[in-house]
Amino acid sequence: MPYDFETVLNRRHTNSVKWDVGADELPMWVADMDFQTAPAITNALAKRAQFGVFGYEEVPTAYYQAVADWWASEHHFRPQLDWLMFCTGVVPAISSIVRKMSAPGDNVLVQAPVYNIFYHSIENNGRHTLASNLVDNGDQYAIDWDDLERKLADPLTTMMILCNPQNPIGIVWSRETLQRIGDLCLRHHVFVVADEIHCDLTLNGQEYVPFASLTPAVAANSVSCVSPSKTFNVAALHAATLIMPDAHVRALISRAINNDELAEPNSFAIPGSIAAYTDGHEWLHALRAKITANQRQVQAFVTEQLPLVKVVEAQATYLLWLDTRRVATDSAALATDIRKRTGLFLSAGDVYRGDGAHFLRMNVACPTSQLTDGLNRLKVGIDAYVAEHPVKD
Ligand SMILES: Cc1ncc(COP(=O)(O)O)c(C=O)c1O
Repeated sequence: MPYDFETVLNRRHTNSVKWDVGADELPMWVADMDFQTAPAITNALAKRAQFGVFGYEEVPTAYYQAVADWWASEHHFRPQLDWLMFCTGVVPAISSIVRKMSAPGDNVLVQAPVYNIFYHSIENNGRHTLASNLVDNGDQYAIDWDDLERKLADPLTTMMILCNPQNPIGIVWSRETLQRIGDLCLRHHVFVVADEIHCDLTLNGQEYVPFASLTPAVAANSVSCVSPSKTFNVAALHAATLIMPDAHVRALISRAINNDELAEPNSFAIPGSIAAYTDGHEWLHALRAKITANQRQVQAFVTEQLPLVKVVEAQATYLLWLDTRRVATDSAALATDIRKRTGLFLSAGDVYRGDGAHFLRMNVACPTSQLTDGLNRLKVGIDAYVAEHPVKD
């Protein structure tokens, strides 16, 4: 069945965080797609609304069965049903897990540049962020293993938040890399929180490896966070799942999620998620083809029209990481300048820390005409910036 990824939707004045912008502005920042979700989800939600009763609800076994079946068919790994726990979002769960599984003053290790909200979950809860920065090797990023091990071995480091696939750089970590990270964490008594929210959005046949599928001892020392929210653009359904292979970890984290009141679904979270995981396969596969095509369009445009900019090849996600260091070394100033001149709203890379100040992040999950508009604005913005701030080399 063909799906429509080309109709431009008018999301202005719909309470959309992304589209709360000026009349002529074009937002390509937050991780939110400008596509209607899979018809199977819309139909399930309409049916639920039609029923007209919205009392307290619990999570049925059918939800966990749908999650397990999806992982078995999409990711060749079947989690046991008793490893799974529903919660109302990945970020609230990470904050809750930080509070439960580490102590105030501890170090929580991240690999920067990485999803900026991790820093809020860590620092707003009185923990320290300890970054083992990823090293840009020209085409993509690599792990500095000596630095990582030294920081994991610090007795104050008790937790690592891993992002796989990694937002914003688009890497999908290999099984070998994940196992090596997991072994190091085990050796140094560091608990692993694996944020796998972008796992369904791998490109070009790339496969993601669930952290819970690693060796039993490594998997036992972890919780993985997954959700249909990025895959199907249903963030406001507020549905996510924690995968916890170890019974003791489950007992602790289940207490935390319940104490923080994150365990109860709204009326639409369960039917929407079951529909996504049961009937969303074909839609997802079509979406991946659209994102791949959009990534190619950006690469071709940038190569031809913006020789000072480089696109980092994303193995996953619809977020492109644009290397703008030859234009400006302060991406916040550059992003502000482009927005002011052209209305194009991109994410400045500095919020992801690490070497992010040399990058802009562009969300390419939109119809072709919108993407073309965004690219044309990007060219106008970069050319004008360069005219005023000539490149020295
Ligand atoms: C890596 C990562 N984790 C979590 C989230 C948000 O998760 P949630 O909306 O379930 O809190 C995002 C959103 O962009 C993300 O990129």
